[in-house]
Amino acid sequence: MAKVLIVYGSETGNTKAAADMIAETLMAAGHTVTVRDVLDTTIAALSEPFDLYLLGVSTWGAVVDEVTEDYKSFHEAMKTADLTGRKLAVFGCGDKGYENFCKAVDYAAERARSRGATLVAERLKIDLDPRKSADAIRAWAQNLTGMLA
Ligand SMILES: Cc1cc2nc3c(=O)[nH]c(=O)nc-3n(C[C@H](O)[C@H](O)[C@H](O)COP(=O)(O)O)c2cc1C
Repeated sequence: MAKVLIVYGSETGNTKAAADMIAETLMAAGHTVTVRDVLDTTIAALSEPFDLYLLGVSTWGAVVDEVTEDYKSFHEAMKTADLTGRKLAVFGCGDKGYENFCKAVDYAAERARSRGATLVAERLKIDLDPRKSADAIRAWAQNLTGMLA
């Protein structure tokens, strides 16, 4: 059974809810999942021994390569982190009404890849309330379990 770390940032609770749904799906498949609010952790978490790292980041604003206030220091620290050999995937909530829908998911994924991480799944971009996309979120997590088997 694999060990999975989820680090999420969430302003109004949507990305947190998505993180919890992903965790539930992975745990139901028998994996051990640790879920941490980005405010309660540091980049050192990505050096702890997990088989898979999942980053959850929501998008608030249109500044390129900028993430939410709570995620900022983690995102900044990723610039110099050595993520070689880490398996990683990124998800997050946004609003399709914005031109830059869920762009922070891309910023986090691109930065992780630039530091050597292997992105093992498509980026999961969730429109507004994740409970309305529960099937797609669970399917995304279920797909990860295939990789962890
Ligand atoms: C002031 C404001 C700015 C926002 N900017 C964006 C944006 O640029 N792109 C986007 O996809 N969603 C944007 N959103 C939508 C949020 O990302 C969305 O509500 C999301 O579900 C919040 O997730 P969280 O509660 O995990 O932070 C914005 C929402 C607000 C209220």
